[in-house]
Amino acid sequence: MAKESVGLKGILRLGDFEFKDQNVFLRVDFNVPLSHEGNVTKITNDKRIRAAIPTIQYILDHGGRIVLASHLGRPEKEEERHLYRIEPVAAHLGELMGLEVILIEDPASDAPKALMQTLRPKQILMLENLRYDEGEVENSSELAAHWSSYTDIYINDAFGACHRAHASIEALPKLVTKKGIGFLIEKEISNLDAVIFHPEHPYVAILGGAKVSDKIPVIEKLMDVVDIFIVGGAMAYTFLAAQGVAVGKSRVEKDKVGFTKEMLGRLDARNKKILLPIDHLVVSDLGSKTPSVSPTAAIAADMLGVDIGPKTIALYAAELRSAKAVFWNGPMGIFEREEFSKGTFGIAKALADLNGHAHTIVGGGDSAAAAEASGYADQMTHISTGGGASLEYLQGEKLPGLEILRARRY
Ligand code: 3PG
Repeated sequence: MAKESVGLKGILRLGDFEFKDQNVFLRVDFNVPLSHEGNVTKITNDKRIRAAIPTIQYILDHGGRIVLASHLGRPEKEEERHLYRIEPVAAHLGELMGLEVILIEDPASDAPKALMQTLRPKQILMLENLRYDEGEVENSSELAAHWSSYTDIYINDAFGACHRAHASIEALPKLVTKKGIGFLIEKEISNLDAVIFHPEHPYVAILGGAKVSDKIPVIEKLMDVVDIFIVGGAMAYTFLAAQGVAVGKSRVEKDKVGFTKEMLGRLDARNKKILLPIDHLVVSDLGSKTPSVSPTAAIAADMLGVDIGPKTIALYAAELRSAKAVFWNGPMGIFEREEFSKGTFGIAKALADLNGHAHTIVGGGDSAAAAEASGYADQMTHISTGGGASLEYLQGEKLPGLEILRARRY
């Protein structure tokens, strides 16, 4: 990653600040998946918490006093609010870092102002779920002014939330002079920039997931830079339907077939290669646990596709072997069910086999979960912690959380 990151131009990093004796408002994205059994809440994946640790540690090591802030879920209904308490997350962070994380029950409370001055070296403050205060999603300048009253330095390391113009992401840094990003955002943007602005070739984009419509802007953006598109997941059935291939009862976005046909034409005109499944795993209905292989691209009228088939896995893996840059977004099938996971995990393995030979980026959300479930996550260059944020960034959208930190427009 020797080249300067375009996306980080004009944005200060941790090394640019003197943290000693400063109050630091550190926005993180600890919006982690939870499971609830009775009164017990478990964090089912703590990747986002672990990913913020280097920044927290750096600020503490340099004498800063931290008030940590995150949203958790979307606590819109009053009766569900208790499911989104930040306490289990704060406790887990405390255990991971050997810190005392002191919880401030009301995110808009005045308590941090006084408490900050009393913090000992292994103590930090953490605000309750920011979305408990509706001012957060409303980007309230009043709430932001409140936070700014005790903030000397604002650091955003919440990559996954940078696409949200919310109070802790946009309104607050507007009011704070000293502001910048943490190590996680720096890593995320540098890695995404590597495939946006200066990818090595061949550059392969693997797109999967349920809907073509979700991926249209990404495909538009990637069309000129990517050499080969590999398509899987339910969106592949819409592509096959656009080529006139029968796909049985598989999920097809009928209103997108025309667009998909047109896009295939545009890819062809640009001499880009697109690979679609040549076989599938199919079931007669989703209740079935015993899929069979449908040996051609076409699917029988009474069956529906749930994963790519073995010939397709081999074809995609062979194509990936010579790749120098890969962006992967979206699973190849319903990978959450073991019987339909071979395609997605096969792709994960193909990416892992490129370790050291290609820049492999997994773009958040379902694909990040799939990469982790595959057991190959540590052999990929970068797995984004941001689902929506990484896609929006890749599509060329300006992320409010980054733009507000830039010294000037570029
Ligand atoms: C995410 O999980 O993508 C981020 O934490 C943003 O969450 P949101 O979609 O609820 O704003």
